[in-house]
Amino acid sequence: MILVTGGTGLVGSHLLFKLISNNENVRATYRREKTLKRVKHVFTYFSDDAENLFNKIEWIEADINDIPKLQNAFKGITYVYHCAAFVSFEPDKYKTLRKINIKGTANIVNLCISNKISKLCYVSSIAAIGHHNNPEKLIDEETAWNPEEDNSVYAITKYGAELEVWRGTQEGLDAVIVNPGIILGAGYWNGGSSGNLFKQIYKGMRYYVNGITGYIDVWDVVNAMHQLMESDIKNESFVLVSESLSFKTFQTKTANALHVKPPTIEAKSWLLKIAWRLDWLQHKFFGKRRNLSKQTAKSAVSITKYDNSKLKNALEFQFKSIDTSIKEITELFLKDLKQ
Ligand SMILES: NC(=O)c1ccc[n+]([C@@H]2O[C@H](COP(=O)([O-])OP(=O)(O)OC[C@H]3O[C@@H](n4cnc5c(N)ncnc54)[C@H](OP(=O)(O)O)[C@@H]3O)[C@@H](O)[C@H]2O)c1
Repeated sequence: MILVTGGTGLVGSHLLFKLISNNENVRATYRREKTLKRVKHVFTYFSDDAENLFNKIEWIEADINDIPKLQNAFKGITYVYHCAAFVSFEPDKYKTLRKINIKGTANIVNLCISNKISKLCYVSSIAAIGHHNNPEKLIDEETAWNPEEDNSVYAITKYGAELEVWRGTQEGLDAVIVNPGIILGAGYWNGGSSGNLFKQIYKGMRYYVNGITGYIDVWDVVNAMHQLMESDIKNESFVLVSESLSFKTFQTKTANALHVKPPTIEAKSWLLKIAWRLDWLQHKFFGKRRNLSKQTAKSAVSITKYDNSKLKNALEFQFKSIDTSIKEITELFLKDLKQ
């Protein structure tokens, strides 16, 4: 049997659909009953038999920091996909990020070892890979993480989680790590993760930024994870990026597909430097939630381009184009909007 952590998230729900459609026996973790509805809704996008497919999942309520519940979740499990994580770039959330992303992953790794799990797939992020000084040089799996950099709190904890997985491999666990770029997928329009990008662009964005980063369709993430788990590959990591694009290009293509006006004013580096300081002041004095940190402002204008050849060569993997991804997801967004 397969265990999926974070089954109610963007990646988890699509992975569950794939595994159940392949007739695998699957158990998945959730925390709150109400989040299960989102998974069912995602299933309806891709099947007329959504209810029936959803009912094939054995759901188990478990936080990844609740060891006794996790021990139950691991009973009879052979393969584990660890998708659960806290995605936040708010500096004030650092403690919670460490607890869920690093300690939670250590718990999963320890249970994989004690339950003699055949293989673990851990979903990391491109945030956990280093950068080059030369922005034109492609970043790949060998690009070293630099702890001296001003890394975001999210990146630090995703990197810390990877260390836990590598530690597990030293203790005999077989594992693969995937490092996706920004994951594009449907159904999580209001979530804190990447799903809400579509809603933000639909509502109208006045500013664009010229920073470049990696993007990937959620189905590519899920298919790559599944193929890596089915292969003999172990103790390796893989960059999952279909294309490296400027945020402006992504915003414009998405706005056009949603039939709304694309942003027209460039948020230059100096403007972002003022904006993150104002954001900090509003947080300190009025308790407003942080929307922009120093690190996210910096990454909004930084150029990071990724090399996806390791996965392409290892699995003869073909990535979906981001144009196709935007087309498919915006259609589902507009359909949901009408309902
Ligand atoms: N989205 C992206 O652009 C992106 C890019 C690169 C890497 N990633 C990585 O991909 C993975 C999946 O991300 P996603 O986009 O699917 O995020 P998501 O939609 O926010 O889903 C996160 C999942 O983790 C669960 N979770 C959070 N804290 C937990 C805890 N303490 N115990 C158990 N479950 C917990 C959530 O449960 P609830 O539903 O109960 O909150 C949810 O199922 C994460 O590891 C993330 O770091 C995401």
